[in-house]
Amino acid sequence: MSVFYCEKTRTFYLNGKNISYVMQVNFENYVEHLYYGKSIACDDLSYTMHEYGCHSAMNSLPGKDNTSGYHNFQPELSFYGTGDFREPTVEVLNPNGDRLTELLYDSHEILTEKPPINGMPSLSGGETLVLHLKDKVTGFCADLYYTVYDDAPVVARRIVYKNCSDSVIRLNRAYSFVLPIPETKYEAMTLHGGWAKERTPERTPLHHGVFSIDSKRTSSSAAINPFMAVMTSGATESSGEVYGVSLVYSSSYVLKAVMDADSRVYLTGGINDFDFSWKLEVGEILETPEVVLAYSANGIGDMSRAYHDAFREHIINKRFVKAARPIVINNWEGTYFDFNGEKLKRIADGVVGTGVDTFVLDDGWFGKRNDESTGLGDWYVNEKKMGESLDSVIAYINSLGMKFGLWFEPEMISEDSDIFRAHPEYAIGAANRPRTYARHQYVMDITRPEVRDYIVNSLNSLLKKHNIEYVKWDYNRYVTESWSLGREADRQSEFAHRYALGLYELCERIIEANPTVFFEGCASGGARFDPAMLHYFPQIWTSDDTDAEERTRIQYGTSMVYPLSAMSCHISDIPNHQTGRKISMATRATVAHLGATGYELDASKFTDEDRIRVKSEVEEYKVSADLILNGDFYRIDSPFETNRFTVCIASKDKEYAELIAYRRIGSVNNEIVRIKAAGLDPEKRYYVKELEKELCGSTLMNVGWTPKYPGGDFTCIKYHIKAVK
Ligand code: DGJ
Repeated sequence: MSVFYCEKTRTFYLNGKNISYVMQVNFENYVEHLYYGKSIACDDLSYTMHEYGCHSAMNSLPGKDNTSGYHNFQPELSFYGTGDFREPTVEVLNPNGDRLTELLYDSHEILTEKPPINGMPSLSGGETLVLHLKDKVTGFCADLYYTVYDDAPVVARRIVYKNCSDSVIRLNRAYSFVLPIPETKYEAMTLHGGWAKERTPERTPLHHGVFSIDSKRTSSSAAINPFMAVMTSGATESSGEVYGVSLVYSSSYVLKAVMDADSRVYLTGGINDFDFSWKLEVGEILETPEVVLAYSANGIGDMSRAYHDAFREHIINKRFVKAARPIVINNWEGTYFDFNGEKLKRIADGVVGTGVDTFVLDDGWFGKRNDESTGLGDWYVNEKKMGESLDSVIAYINSLGMKFGLWFEPEMISEDSDIFRAHPEYAIGAANRPRTYARHQYVMDITRPEVRDYIVNSLNSLLKKHNIEYVKWDYNRYVTESWSLGREADRQSEFAHRYALGLYELCERIIEANPTVFFEGCASGGARFDPAMLHYFPQIWTSDDTDAEERTRIQYGTSMVYPLSAMSCHISDIPNHQTGRKISMATRATVAHLGATGYELDASKFTDEDRIRVKSEVEEYKVSADLILNGDFYRIDSPFETNRFTVCIASKDKEYAELIAYRRIGSVNNEIVRIKAAGLDPEKRYYVKELEKELCGSTLMNVGWTPKYPGGDFTCIKYHIKAVK
């Protein structure tokens, strides 16, 4: 049973895979958080409640002298103005100007199926607890949703705010959750970055006060991912308690880890309340994005695997998540904007017979686009540039036995485009100011239905007209001048959230109308890599930085939250276009095989020898493909902390594993460092092809071995580890 309610003590017990979550309705009808962590029995935890005398809050409850005040109760939702000085989960502006709420237990429901969020992606799931909280004075309500899972130690949470009062109100803050965690010394880990250096892990000791990360970019952004892990100080990949927070959201967000004056710690956040306010008419609701909380008692690695399992099983499109991924040749780094139909066909010829099965035509095929400055929004084929019709290029690619894919940047508009000339108001911008350029382009105002219709109709008609089986959906700049022609002045601060809703509607209408088309996400590399985007795009271009050395760090950081199958990783040319570095093809391929792989180069230059090599790389990838889609991923040596990048992927049944050992800089007098496998069955015996040895899982995981790296810099070895029958 996943949700259990004890009527006598008014306690809710949520029991998922290896975890329990417990809360109780107290004497004041306040829902008090009691426990979240390793599985426990359904004991009465009242003895832990609002530990009188232990904390320093000085307020009593409103209207009651000499009682414990709200500040002493561990919250499932914090409200402001009546003695709780913590970060409020919600801030309501009432018609008389007061900002007061007292959200107390009213009733609850246990639903057999987890309901979807209207207009936003969320995890699928079963039994779900809904707590109905109500403010008796105004009628304002908050519904708190909780779902736990048998197949991953995660809790999915969100809050729905309802205006059940008789007047219009305004929400100045509407977070998705608050989670108190036990008092101890913690570090927070976040994933910061930028273009070509996405998702770099960073650890910071928690201090008294607020540790906060956010995005104001109307995008989850490359600057800092909507994820935070708070862990006991010194936690490693395999030790320490870890509380992960991953927000299923693609617009401006905030996440906070707070240590209050009493050294109590709690996590909270959701939609960024900077530049946010939401008007709720009588009877209206605001649904907040879902947050996925992951718990690990055994270090960061288990937290990551919890997210990988939860996202693969419950959020990524079921049609594609476990299906063999297209192996792509993409022309971007091979040609940039300089191509025609003939050149594209020669690139496709270059990979014939190698096992590469999908040709993706990147930016530059539409409008009058020959560089970054024109054409976005004019989604019709530039036949003059191509020298032929798109259909004839597609027919040729198909005749080679390959599928055809096409690049779009649906949310964007160029000033130099027919659509901008006809509808300048489609671009986001304030009426009385010039717009800010980025990559010479503007962003379409997808908060407006007519703009969404234009985009949906343009893309859907192209996808219907041509045999396009793969779409790369790019997004190359952030929103500025967040102001919409389509909305009244007192609703302009709803913009960032309405952008997210517009984006999800676009994805929904385009992807559902083209159910067999495979969609890949992209945002100037990996600048919008979040669980909500993964719902639509089973894989996302991880970074424009395709240098294998840089990719060890980017993919290592990305794996903190996201499964390998979500990372699109291409083998590109040398010298690398971003770093100028020359790394062997063997290493480039091994690193790019740790995800959904492909090639990004001018294959028309391939020699027969190159083709033979690519064929054997693709065959090697197919051996690993099932591990990439379904396996358990273990980080062993961090490229941020060592000269190595060592990772292991093991099948769920522990019958097969691969260990990838990469060494950055070679030296004459080499360091001797053993590596140890992970994720094997200690009792099983395995044959390790590259060691030419049969050893027990316990030996491989505890004794390990010293890899004989090939000479030189940036080299690696892949070990194939197979259980012996
Ligand atoms: C940014 C992407 O990350 C690249 O892969 C490429 O598609 C370009 N945009 C095209 O403009």
